[in-house]
Amino acid sequence: MRAVSVNASVKYNVYISSGLIGRSGELSALVAQPCRAMLVSDERVYSLYGRAVEESYAAAGYSVDRFTFPPGEASKNLGVFGSLMNALADARYIRSDIIVALGGGVTGDLAGFAASAYTRGIRYIQIPTTLLAAVDSSVGGKTAVNLNAGKNLAGAFWQPSLVLCDTDILRDLPGDLLSDGAAEAVKYGVLRDEALFDTLAAGRLIDALDYVVETSVCIKRDLVNEDEFDTGARQLLNLGHTIGHAIESCSKYEISHGRAVAIGLYRIARAAEVLGINPPGLSARIRTALAACGLSTECGYTADELANAALSDKKRRGGMLTLIVPREIGRCELMEAPIENLRDWITAGEGAL
Ligand code: GLY
Repeated sequence: MRAVSVNASVKYNVYISSGLIGRSGELSALVAQPCRAMLVSDERVYSLYGRAVEESYAAAGYSVDRFTFPPGEASKNLGVFGSLMNALADARYIRSDIIVALGGGVTGDLAGFAASAYTRGIRYIQIPTTLLAAVDSSVGGKTAVNLNAGKNLAGAFWQPSLVLCDTDILRDLPGDLLSDGAAEAVKYGVLRDEALFDTLAAGRLIDALDYVVETSVCIKRDLVNEDEFDTGARQLLNLGHTIGHAIESCSKYEISHGRAVAIGLYRIARAAEVLGINPPGLSARIRTALAACGLSTECGYTADELANAALSDKKRRGGMLTLIVPREIGRCELMEAPIENLRDWITAGEGAL
């Protein structure tokens, strides 16, 4: 079993292995003595894996309750958050009890935010069931729900006590969900690790899955250890996300997060070449790696549409923005730029060399 230790305000382990669902109760007991455990999951994921998790926790001595909700981003809202909080209160959960988040990013964010707020904070355990959640959102303690005005506008930094990545579940994912998470893994390669990047570019995601998850989590761990509250180095994790968020927004969230980040990652690398910051070559390498993971670098939106979407988001935050610019595979830089320059970057991302 691979293990990555995170040393943030809470110290915890991320375990990566096959068969972890069946051991989830036993492994949780190492960090939270058997108590009451509220399993939080969407109805689809619960129908696949919920019983196995419940049985494992019960066998380890936990008293298990269940909170399920309809699958999809639309459930990451204050209404479902409130229902979960009331479910915890109605069942008389106390601060020494735990929440178990079984699912993808929506479940982890929602359950983690409830954990941060219920009785001013209880422990929670993440069991990610998508590759994107395994390599990114389940680690690092960012929790949130969406408000009418935008995504993730209400949330907290609240670290889990344990993360269990069962690679049997990840291997069973449909190709589009694997590609979605692979985009974030390619991002980690571009940020810090050429060997990871080359593995993905060689189309070896599935046969090197444990290595890909472990290496991605290690890179995220290092950035979270350095900058848990996202005021400095952790911003590197937003590589590809400025244009990616604009694509998600233009598509009314029909284009998934990973696919949008893939396009954003390629476009920012290309812009750096078109603007003369990098010599040509890097963006083509990134496009090849993304294609090997089933990810396109094309979207149907013009540079103007993307710039308008990105600027309407960024204008709320003041006059400067931080761009994350790849300089070579394994090395990226944070670059401060006036918000007004964002349109030039997005246009350059479509430009000819
Ligand atoms: N997903 C970006 C971060 O955790 O900071």
